[in-house]
Amino acid sequence: MTLRYARITGWGRYVPARRLTNYDLEQLVDTNDEWITHNTGIRERRIAEPQETAVDMALEASRIALERAQVRPEDLNLIIFATSTPDYFVPAAASLLQDRLGARGVPAFDLTAGCTGSIYAMVTATQFIKTGMYERVLVIGSEKVSPGIDYTDRNTAIMFGDGAGAVVFEASNAPTGILSFELGSDGALWDALYCPGGGGANPFSQKVLDNRENYLRMDGKRVFKFAVKAMTRSIQNVVESSGLPFSEIDFLIPHQSNLRIIEMTTHRLKMDPSKVMVNLDRYGNTSAAAIPIALAEAADQGRIKEGDHIVLAGFGSGMTWGSVVMHWEPTRPAEEQAILVENWPVREALQLQANKMRAAVWSAQVTARTKAQEASMSVMLPFYTWQRKRRKAKEQQAVEDSGEQQG
Ligand code: UT7
Repeated sequence: MTLRYARITGWGRYVPARRLTNYDLEQLVDTNDEWITHNTGIRERRIAEPQETAVDMALEASRIALERAQVRPEDLNLIIFATSTPDYFVPAAASLLQDRLGARGVPAFDLTAGCTGSIYAMVTATQFIKTGMYERVLVIGSEKVSPGIDYTDRNTAIMFGDGAGAVVFEASNAPTGILSFELGSDGALWDALYCPGGGGANPFSQKVLDNRENYLRMDGKRVFKFAVKAMTRSIQNVVESSGLPFSEIDFLIPHQSNLRIIEMTTHRLKMDPSKVMVNLDRYGNTSAAAIPIALAEAADQGRIKEGDHIVLAGFGSGMTWGSVVMHWEPTRPAEEQAILVENWPVREALQLQANKMRAAVWSAQVTARTKAQEASMSVMLPFYTWQRKRRKAKEQQAVEDSGEQQG
């Protein structure tokens, strides 16, 4: 059977225009530019306008990504929207985006894994493509974190910003896209970074508002320690399972949260800092949007090139972590371009035939495997029965022998 891979063919990013600098924060909380820059590396973040939502930002990033991939929204097979800050609790942000894109009927769902959400979403998209079920999947990480931040709490106020990144994955026969991955979570650490109010455990009420429980709470030290340990270990694991020597990794895109976390991680991995993406100085921590924004920016700036092996690595609330080794080759080879038929009815018919053929091959494979198992069982069964009887007889004999000795 031919192996299928998921090639990234498009990427896009969007950040709101409004900047919140360290100097602006000095006016809001007891902090200063020097402390923030020295302890986090962040200089400014972008803040969405009141009427601008995670879906609005996702739409901008998605349009750029689809345009670059030359994929029409209606030709998508799936939309996965990684976010912890959807426009509404119900329905999913993915459904709103699907409608706004004009991707009629395309399945769409949200995925929540904190800041690691976009890595979880990219891995999920890849699985749908590898199984042969889908050809084109849009992955988005978009967050409007700012309304969930208490701007009287200097612990969190300095860290977060808003933004969106999007990536298009398309089926390919060439070994590209995600080559290996690791996902993980340690739910015992759930209260290191969480929002205490507004959910089922503590529904919205005046008490929630009075106690400021509708805002994010973070145990910075606990998150910091976890982040360095989880990212270092996960990157080591994922590179090892890719089969590539570490020297073959051309670029690392870590979650953008605190420069000190990135520096400690890369120091432990003995990575050259010039091969590491950092843009948190301009955007702060945009949660699930951080990695797709950084990926799109690295690609736009030519910091990652065709044929490069890159590692994406993240951590986030949950606590979760995730890493992938990715082969970056967004240009489709000629044979893959040839299957792009512009005429929709013709393409639909071709796709239908291709799906039917794939289903027929799969069913033939299952039948063959089942028959082979049945055949091997009918040959092996008498042998297994004989073996079991022999073992039982031996055990019986051993019991009798030990009885005689004792007697
Ligand atoms: O996507 C996941 C997102 N979360 C993270 O990645 C968070 C990881 N953690 C961190 O980045 C750090 O823990 C923070 C940047 C949040 C805080 O840094 P810290 O070194 O853990 O600060 P701390 O709370 O231990 O405080 C150290 C000192 C204290 O002063 P003294 O007692 O030593 O005199 C604090 O009062 O720094 C002071 N301090 C501040 N000063 C000015 C703490 N926060 C601030 C601040 N501005 N914002």
